[in-house]
Amino acid sequence: MADDFGKLDQLEITVLLEDCAGYDTGLAAQHGLSLLIEARAGKTGRNILFDTGQEAETLLRNMELLGKDPENVDLVFLSHCHYDHTGGLTGFLKASGKSRLPVICHPDSHRLNLALKPAFRSIGMGPANSPGAIEAAGGELVPLSQPLQLMAGVLTSGEIEDKVPFESAPTLSMVTCREGKMEPDRMADDIAMIFNLPAGLVVVTGCSHAGIISIIKNAIRLTGIKTVLAVVGGFHLVDADDERVGLTVEALGGLSSVSIYTGHCTGLKAEAKLLDQFGERFKKLRTGMKFSF
Ligand SMILES: [Fe+2]
Ligand SMILES: [Fe+2]
Repeated sequence: MADDFGKLDQLEITVLLEDCAGYDTGLAAQHGLSLLIEARAGKTGRNILFDTGQEAETLLRNMELLGKDPENVDLVFLSHCHYDHTGGLTGFLKASGKSRLPVICHPDSHRLNLALKPAFRSIGMGPANSPGAIEAAGGELVPLSQPLQLMAGVLTSGEIEDKVPFESAPTLSMVTCREGKMEPDRMADDIAMIFNLPAGLVVVTGCSHAGIISIIKNAIRLTGIKTVLAVVGGFHLVDADDERVGLTVEALGGLSSVSIYTGHCTGLKAEAKLLDQFGERFKKLRTGMKFSF
């Protein structure tokens, strides 16, 4: 794909909502993630809302404080079904005032997704963000398990099918129900976005339930581009064992000159190891943070 994938001139990412907030900003922090990704290639541009946090009120308030208008969003991308990434969707759609705003997500996004620890709870999209509710709020679902190029230099990952051995299962144990039976939920709906810049790829992920190393390898395989400039998002290592954290940090270290922008569900233990390994190239995500490539 490298030849016809194209390149962006500019990529700007604003953290609209994250578990931490910057000092003296008035911005609210909340467990979850929402990023505004502004991509430009020549005269073409797309403003992408990558995940919507867990509820719209906080997201919209932060957007206002950051001078970002919901009306200017061209499409929504949902990295996976979890409430802390999708809960703000219908509220955002209503505020955008749009009709048929594309909402890209995996076709399995609306299945039941249950966590059993520390106690039973449903952590998926729920009735407030059902397909009918999304449509009624002004969205148009684009259910995709395959990669899709959205413009020059912008690609959705599609389902991450090839896993490195140590990422064969999600770190968080979840189940789904099929025909009245409970079965492990392998989070097939976990998808990412890939951006190509003159200096290399920027890979953006929500929680990386598919495994951050597998997600990066998938991006390299899809694009044929081996230089990864930055990885942005949560890595969900908060409940991973020391071995998995170690193997992940080691594999990231194998990507020469990559910068790591992470937080949310990555966890303090992994963040400390990443800081140690990457130094200045490790950036802790927080609400209100802006960075461009
Ligand atoms: Fe999350
Ligand atoms: Fe998640």
